[in-house]
Amino acid sequence: MRESSKPTLESEPSMLEINNLNSGYGKVSVLRNVTFHVDQDEMVAIIGPNGAGKSTLLKTISGLVRAQSGEVKFENDNIFCLSPDQVVRRGLAYVPEGGRVFPNMTVLENLMMGAYSNQGILKTGILDEIYTLFPILKNRSAQFARTLSGGERQMLAIGRGLVSRPKLIMLDEPSLGVAPKLVDEIYEKIHALKRIGLTVLLVEQNTGYALELADRGYVIENGQIAMEGTASYLSSSDHIKKFYLGL
Ligand SMILES: Nc1ncnc2c1ncn2[C@@H]1O[C@H](COP(=O)(O)OP(=O)(O)O)[C@@H](O)[C@H]1O
Ligand SMILES: [Mg+2]
Repeated sequence: MRESSKPTLESEPSMLEINNLNSGYGKVSVLRNVTFHVDQDEMVAIIGPNGAGKSTLLKTISGLVRAQSGEVKFENDNIFCLSPDQVVRRGLAYVPEGGRVFPNMTVLENLMMGAYSNQGILKTGILDEIYTLFPILKNRSAQFARTLSGGERQMLAIGRGLVSRPKLIMLDEPSLGVAPKLVDEIYEKIHALKRIGLTVLLVEQNTGYALELADRGYVIENGQIAMEGTASYLSSSDHIKKFYLGL
């Protein structure tokens, strides 16, 4: 069930390389020998059912969950043991599931939290760049985050991830909690991230959307990579059609 992905020359390592990663919570193993890569300028989707380990994977890469063994390399450096803020400073941002933001802080305060590991970055015009991408955040900048709709909260969570000027952004189920008619808008924004030069690792249960946008994808089932290939290859696979696209 595999199709070889874009060939990578030995001399050109992938931007993000995960090799034989094992991770979980205490004695509970969740991820088993997970191996995958994301090349610069790609959008890679990780799809899989609820409980498969998708969030655990992103949290492990971000340093929020301690890996048990394996390799996590970003721009050819081992980032396996780094703390979450060190990972952010390397240029990897993580946007948690469900557009989690601080409800009792304003939109602007939430965005500024994205600079916690590097306050100086706020002087570089990054907020204006984010407001260009998400004009609604500028209009709502003085409002408490709790007053935002699900879609606006998701945009705020993504905006906060962008404040650190990441090279690669990891999005955990950006369509979760967003009204169906706004999901298209969120996905347009995600597409825009790619256009402005970001590499994107997208986790989704919404397989149709993910495969429409992504260049390549991996299917994670029970903590293991079950399938991989280009988005068009995955979309046409019988397994994906039957179990993920309901066709
Ligand atoms: N903090 C935690 N402590 C213990 N087990 C957890 C924790 N978070 C998630 N799990 C378990 O890890 C497995 C994978 O969860 P998760 O990574 O959230 O899956 P997904 O994001 O694919 O839905 C599930 O069995 C879940 O119950
Ligand atoms: Mg999850």
